[in-house]
Amino acid sequence: MPFVTVHKGGQVFRDEVADNTNLVVRAGIRKFPYPNFKYKCGMGKCATCTSLILKGGENLPEPNWKEKKTLGDDKLAKGFRLACQLWIHHDIELTQEFEGTEAGAPEPAPAEIETTTTG
Ligand code: FES
Repeated sequence: MPFVTVHKGGQVFRDEVADNTNLVVRAGIRKFPYPNFKYKCGMGKCATCTSLILKGGENLPEPNWKEKKTLGDDKLAKGFRLACQLWIHHDIELTQEFEGTEAGAPEPAPAEIETTTTG
């Protein structure tokens, strides 16, 4: 089963999730990465769930038309994806904190890893 790692506020949150998991769906039912995950529409329209993929992006499928429309080619090329449009099959590491860092991935801050066991 894949491990998901979320960088937020200088902390690192990591947990194992079931194969074929959608992080927005999980957050919606109050499971990891809740409450450390931003989302709203769940339909690829609002861009609230925009995530910069730090590791594992090579395992993701090609962006769908909603990601292309909402993020545009430029952001997709820089490693941004819409988490609500992704079903996770492999380990992935991401952050939703990227203001002013769109030129590249932020340096993950050294931090304690918090592992939740919410399933
Ligand atoms: S939650 Fe709105 S685009 Fe993903």
